[in-house]
Amino acid sequence: MQAVCTIHDIEDDSAREFQVDDQPVVIVKRDGQFHAYLNWCPHLGIELNFMPDQFLDSDNQFLICANHGALFEIESGDCLSGPCSGDALLAVPLEVREEQIWLGEVPQPA
Ligand code: FES
Repeated sequence: MQAVCTIHDIEDDSAREFQVDDQPVVIVKRDGQFHAYLNWCPHLGIELNFMPDQFLDSDNQFLICANHGALFEIESGDCLSGPCSGDALLAVPLEVREEQIWLGEVPQPA
């Protein structure tokens, strides 16, 4: 695993992108918990965002794909609505150790 940032680098109900092993990874914080996903929409296999670090919908309830509006549950990455409904974001293993966020191997899309 590799340390990517500290827990203070991401505010609650927000997300940030990091390059990990040359792959774009989104780390999102919700209720004090961190979740990491490959920045890759299962609909067309393209990045979710147009603007840097803009990954949440207007209510900060879901991860959103800016391309066609798919909504993903923050905790699971499951697509709840949109063209890839029933599919899911690819999760990246994440651990918090002494205020550092560590990420494991970044998955490759099939
Ligand atoms: S590319 Fe993400 S919803 Fe179409």
